Amino acid sequence: MNKETNENILEVRNVIKSFKETLVLNGLSFKVQGGETFGLLGPNGAGKTTTMRMIMNILRPDSGEIYFNGTPRNKLEGVHFGYLPEERGLYPRARVIDVLVYFGTLNNMTSRKAEVEAIRYLDRLGIIEYTDARINELSKGIQQKIQFIAAFLHDPEVLILDEPFTGLDPINQTVLLEILEEYKKKNKILIISTHMMDQAEKICDHICLINQAQVVIDGPVDAIRKQFREDAYYIELEGNYPILSELDNVQILEEGKNSYKFVLKRGAISLADLLKKVEEKARIRRFEVFEPSLHDIFIRLIQEQAEEKA
Ligand SMILES: Nc1ncnc2c1ncn2[C@@H]1O[C@H](COP(=O)(O)OP(=O)(O)OP(=O)(O)O)[C@@H](O)[C@H]1O
Ligand SMILES: [Mg+2]
Repeated sequence: MNKETNENILEVRNVIKSFKETLVLNGLSFKVQGGETFGLLGPNGAGKTTTMRMIMNILRPDSGEIYFNGTPRNKLEGVHFGYLPEERGLYPRARVIDVLVYFGTLNNMTSRKAEVEAIRYLDRLGIIEYTDARINELSKGIQQKIQFIAAFLHDPEVLILDEPFTGLDPINQTVLLEILEEYKKKNKILIISTHMMDQAEKICDHICLINQAQVVIDGPVDAIRKQFREDAYYIELEGNYPILSELDNVQILEEGKNSYKFVLKRGAISLADLLKKVEEKARIRRFEVFEPSLHDIFIRLIQEQAEEKA
């Protein structure tokens, strides 16, 4: 942790990365603060895994730099970092506990401490009965849970998880989310890549969307959703009463059984007056300012970029 500010900061600054002729990242920059879940999003091939490998110092940028608490990444020991790689793979014939202790000792833990922590997490994740099993006897999901434990057993300051939720059932996803939530509260840095937008929306505080080698959008999830708000409203009425379609002042965008997504026509009625009018005739069950989901925003931005190019 940074002694002066008491805060962890990871910074990717103007990173360029190509593989042979292919320019994968053209000036990638972002900053992640401790206590924050940062989502790296983008379509297949956008460069998410490449970015994570550079943060893990497995790959080097062609130019640009990655800093952790002000120190360039290649001058730091790996022990501050934990990594769940995209390609999962543990030694198939080894025993679970031996694998975990091995990973722990690679990250400067004593075998004793690694064993205690491994058993604690195996218990927490409900897989203590597999402590002495061999990896190749386990289901894919359980192997993934073991690999998770291997990534954070040593309590790193920065945890990088590449597509952590694929292959896990909803109950296991929830258990994992709880652990990540605790981890984050310790003021650590959590970076995940995911294709599951609804999940990103729930768990990420900050996202960065990469497309065609560039950052398309980068910011706090709340602010991004606000930015893409279309001044549309959602209202749900009690009973089947088509009150809104009777009013001249609104334009209905979508109509459900008792619900409407609508915008107010320009210069028409104020929202307060409209609601008053509706309430005279029907009971309002739900009313909210409509905000697009990350999924909608993601699709829209990527389509816009494709159109600009065409
Ligand atoms: N070792 C490599 N050699 C050559 N090209 C590579 C290498 N690694 C990645 N690439 C290319 O870099 C681009 C980005 O790949 P990357 O794996 O980072 O994408 P991603 O965003 O993680 O995609 P996905 O969602 O499919 O996991 C792709 O075009 C890929 O083909
Ligand atoms: Mg990837």
